[in-house]
Amino acid sequence: MSTILLRDATPDDALCLGVLGMQVFLDTYAPQGIRGSIATEVLEAFAPQVMARLIADPGILLMVAESNHHLLGFAQVRLNARHPLIDAVDVAELQRLYIQERFTGLGIGYQLLQAAERGAVTGGASMLWATVWERNERALGFYPRRGYGLLGNPVHTFQGESHGNRLFGKALDVTAP
Ligand SMILES: CC(C)(COP(=O)(O)OP(=O)(O)OC[C@H]1O[C@@H](n2cnc3c(N)ncnc32)[C@H](O)[C@@H]1OP(=O)(O)O)[C@@H](O)C(=O)NCCC(=O)NCCS
Repeated sequence: MSTILLRDATPDDALCLGVLGMQVFLDTYAPQGIRGSIATEVLEAFAPQVMARLIADPGILLMVAESNHHLLGFAQVRLNARHPLIDAVDVAELQRLYIQERFTGLGIGYQLLQAAERGAVTGGASMLWATVWERNERALGFYPRRGYGLLGNPVHTFQGESHGNRLFGKALDVTAP
């Protein structure tokens, strides 16, 4: 495979990021097939104009992994994103870490996670947190192996449905260059 480049997303990435997001979302959250709530959520959440707004938002960090002019994955961090189960104030949320299925297991997720952590520190965060669907076994194993501790079991609601989640968090090394 060609060299993998990690870079910040640009406005030109909105369309491809949205389609990549839809693909990974469906692979991950629609293991039983497609129902109305899933279809609505994916079309709303990853519409190109929505992705364009995220890329332009100064409170959001969006980093992509690219190879040979193709997007393979991305990480999305929201700065200054508190969580009711976390007391600390200066925390950031890893909102999405999405790798296209055929490129998983190659270390791209870990590279993007490290980039997300560095970006969060630069943005003033001392902790990065993420929520994981309770049935996403791969991600439930991924974060603890990278230093993330279990902080709680919140419920996530979308399109009128409630789903059990796991909250993970990691104190960041704010002295790292
Ligand atoms: C969870 C997810 C982000 C992990 O990304 P990934 O790129 O597969 O992760 P990595 O390749 O860095 O690590 C996965 C495993 O591959 C192994 N690996 C790393 N580099 C490797 C390489 N060069 N060759 C083979 N295996 C490798 C790692 O050791 C790791 O194993 P471990 O978890 O036992 O330590 C990815 O599977 C994904 O996008 N899933 C769908 C969306 C999702 O669930 N996101 C998280 C919730 S928001």
